[in-house]
Amino acid sequence: MEKQEIRTFGRRHGKKLSARQNTLLDTVLPAIQPVGLPTNTGLILEIGFGSGEHLREISRENPDKIIIGAEPFMNGVASLLSAITDESNSIRSEYKNIRIFPDDVRDFLRDTDSKFEQIWVLHPDPWPKARHEKRRLLNADFLMLLSKHLTRNGEIIIGTDHWEYFDWIINQAKLTKLFICTPDIKTIHTRYQEKNKAGTTVPKYLLLKN
Ligand SMILES: C[S@@+](CC[C@H](N)C(=O)[O-])C[C@H]1O[C@@H](n2cnc3c(N)ncnc32)[C@H](O)[C@@H]1O
Repeated sequence: MEKQEIRTFGRRHGKKLSARQNTLLDTVLPAIQPVGLPTNTGLILEIGFGSGEHLREISRENPDKIIIGAEPFMNGVASLLSAITDESNSIRSEYKNIRIFPDDVRDFLRDTDSKFEQIWVLHPDPWPKARHEKRRLLNADFLMLLSKHLTRNGEIIIGTDHWEYFDWIINQAKLTKLFICTPDIKTIHTRYQEKNKAGTTVPKYLLLKN
């Protein structure tokens, strides 16, 4: 029997969606699934994009690339759809390069041969209680899976304000063949980063390469 993967996210649904958001989920989301992607060029992936602030930023900064976001929290997906569409529910021109996988990124990665120039993971759920540690997404197995989906000079960029999780991720990365580097990145503003539940002064960032 296939080993069941441990769930790494909390809720899939939060507060009731607006009528417009439901319409966007029914009509726009199916049209921007990440299918028929090129395999080895021009792709960027963001895992757990939340409401998509950073995803939109990299979409605007990289108009010549396809930006794929994976997020199982449907209220986050709906927020992103609201932000990238106009009043007639058409995707705004600057966001036409966005594709959305509205579920667990591990399911997406299992079914694709595509390799990414960048893989972003900002504020992965820290699961701070010891008994929940097994739910942490960025374990060595997952990092090895990501390493197989990097282009030749591709990079995984991770940011978290939970410093204990940050050190834990470094220890997991040491179990892989990935090179561990410190990126020169200013604080990236996302909804979760602004909540700063960990109460730390700044998020820490990490860059991993093959
Ligand atoms: C703490 S939130 C951070 C959201 C956003 N990156 C930010 O900084 O505001 C972590 C997000 O990762 C998502 N997540 C957790 N496990 C995931 C998985 N296996 N695949 C894709 N997304 C996942 C959760 O649904 C959640 O929205």
